[in-house]
Amino acid sequence: MAGSDVTGRAGTSAAPDDPHLAAFVARVYDGEHQGDEADIAWALRLAGGVDGPVADLGCGTGRLTVPLAAAGFETVAVDRSPAMLRRLRTKLGRHPAAIRERVRIEALDLSAWDTHENRLSLALLGYNTFAALLTAEAQRRCLGNIRQALRPGGMLALATAAVAARVIALPEGFTREVYRRPAPELGPGVELTRRDVQRWTDETGQLRQLAVIYDVQEADGGRRRHQYEYAVRYTSRWELEHLLARCGFDDVQVWGGYEREPFTVEGGLLVVTGTVA
Ligand SMILES: C[S@@+](CC[C@H](N)C(=O)[O-])C[C@H]1O[C@@H](n2cnc3c(N)ncnc32)[C@H](O)[C@@H]1O
Repeated sequence: MAGSDVTGRAGTSAAPDDPHLAAFVARVYDGEHQGDEADIAWALRLAGGVDGPVADLGCGTGRLTVPLAAAGFETVAVDRSPAMLRRLRTKLGRHPAAIRERVRIEALDLSAWDTHENRLSLALLGYNTFAALLTAEAQRRCLGNIRQALRPGGMLALATAAVAARVIALPEGFTREVYRRPAPELGPGVELTRRDVQRWTDETGQLRQLAVIYDVQEADGGRRRHQYEYAVRYTSRWELEHLLARCGFDDVQVWGGYEREPFTVEGGLLVVTGTVA
């Protein structure tokens, strides 16, 4: 999953604001992450090591939430995107009541999420949700809220892209075909192509702006395009370590993958955990 290709793992996007576009992105989201199961195994393993409720923060369509609930973990699923949460509700609707009832959905911005005083055992910030927090202040507020939500002994686990210098230096307009795949979720015979385009990098603000372009090819030859832009704030390994310590986490550990691989920036993935004393 952690790619060594120039832009890291396929996709990561804060859901777009436009409701139609957001609904489209939510609809194709699970299909574009098919085969990305390492983080699901990671979430299940971490949840299995604690006793008590888990939070999936920036849960999206519930790629982590649904397997967690199905495995028996009481899960709080938080996201600010109504389209993503609709998708999660639809997916949960296909499961028995016992699984559905283990999930509490909260439609909230993470920088304003503070409703679980000392109760949670594990808080997961899945791949690149943290990167959608675009200022140091929003990051600090989010981590501070998580710290408050965790019980003593509770753990935060966060996964984000490790951004190498060559990614920061990509020229404006650099385009990468992320995939070309059958998209049955859009109809029989539909083919979907996703391209990510580098817009700009602001090294001072540690921001990258990307465009995501989806080309839909219908079975009858019809074509349509959906396109949106989003920014991510990249963080370095040491910055994250210090930030977690500043926000009150102990025993901060850094890995390069979901199986505790050693960290290298070239590996493309930064996995950090911290606990509450
Ligand atoms: C890259 S997706 C990850 C979704 C899911 N965790 C997964 O791994 O499939 C990031 C998600 O975080 C959500 N998100 C981004 N910023 C957020 C914020 N400030 N508050 C709440 N949700 C946020 C987006 O709406 C999106 O669903």
